[in-house]
Amino acid sequence: MSATSAAAKAPATEPLFEPYQLGPLHLSNRIVMAPMTRSRAIDGNVPNPLAETYYRQRASAGLIITEASQVSPQGQGYIRTPGIHSPEQVAAWRKITAAVAREGGKIFLQLWHVGRISHPDFQGGELPVAPSAIMPDGEVFTAQGPKKMVTPRALDLSELPGIVEQFRKGAENAKAAGFDGVEIHGANGYLLDQFTRDGSNRRADSYGGSLENRVRLPLEVTKAVIGVWGKDRVGYRVSPNGAYNSMSDSNPRETFSYLTRRLSELGIVYLHTFDPPSGANHLAPELRKQFTGTFIVNGGYDEASGNAAIASGDADLVAYGVPFLANPDLPYRFGRKAGLNAPDQATFYAGEDRGYTDYPALAQ
Ligand SMILES: Cc1cc2nc3c(=O)[nH]c(=O)nc-3n(C[C@H](O)[C@H](O)[C@H](O)COP(=O)(O)O)c2cc1C
Repeated sequence: MSATSAAAKAPATEPLFEPYQLGPLHLSNRIVMAPMTRSRAIDGNVPNPLAETYYRQRASAGLIITEASQVSPQGQGYIRTPGIHSPEQVAAWRKITAAVAREGGKIFLQLWHVGRISHPDFQGGELPVAPSAIMPDGEVFTAQGPKKMVTPRALDLSELPGIVEQFRKGAENAKAAGFDGVEIHGANGYLLDQFTRDGSNRRADSYGGSLENRVRLPLEVTKAVIGVWGKDRVGYRVSPNGAYNSMSDSNPRETFSYLTRRLSELGIVYLHTFDPPSGANHLAPELRKQFTGTFIVNGGYDEASGNAAIASGDADLVAYGVPFLANPDLPYRFGRKAGLNAPDQATFYAGEDRGYTDYPALAQ
């Protein structure tokens, strides 16, 4: 029995197991696999052949969102992350999307540009690019081991259409690779988040300063991606309170409310918030009210809190990261109140098949 058909037989009384219509896509449940970098790409940043098994094993999710995938070589900041800019990458992704489709699953690609969270080692010796020349704290893991991050180069105004084009091309490649849609990575301190928040954006031109200016590039990217996919197959991810990658904003409520309203006006199919309910200044419920499309919540949810989030109207779909990483048959287990495999942190970003395709499913 395939993972998908097994999950379909789970008790259908819980909110997480209600089917859901996401734009044109019929999702068999409301359990989303959150995007997770696994650092196992092979030469040329081509997805590892093992990724076909990894994603197929998890196809019983209502929707899979892939690991972040750089839209260009400039967009890379970690070793062995897959890209969506070369023909070889597209060909490898096509096998993955076909494997998920054969199981009846749905899969979106997460489009990524890291901006300043990179290193000259990834950039042919050039500086990483960012809205402003502000150095993030911390280290980047390069092929030669960890190296301190550097002060990035502020993008010139004349370069910004090129950034939009990188995302547009990535979206086009994702379409050629057979995805069901794409998620724009606007979270976790990467390039679009760097433009959005004022801790990392000190520009004096029309892409910095006012809120309207700071979200200009994210919205231009979103419009370009809609141009490829249509608005009902484009999602956007935010992390309004995330401090990861040296991020800060003087007024996250105002910033992300504004961005949410503008994204809502564009009519994208979903907004995905990484905003753990346990955190201070939890904003997701407020953003939910300002977004007319599908709302996905993420961050520390379990089965009970996921069901509660849907039942209360705070979410339409719930994304699970680590629980899905360690449990390929997460919906099946949730449906049966079965125990979960423990995640092995040592293999999150290394280990080839170990901690990747070898987490056991329950006997079905
Ligand atoms: C190994 C790992 C890799 C991750 N990679 C990404 C990524 O590529 N893109 C992204 O938006 N979030 C990434 N995240 C964050 C997750 O999508 C998710 O927000 C986080 O794990 C919290 O959800 P959870 O409590 O259900 O695990 C990653 C998390 C983990 C554990």
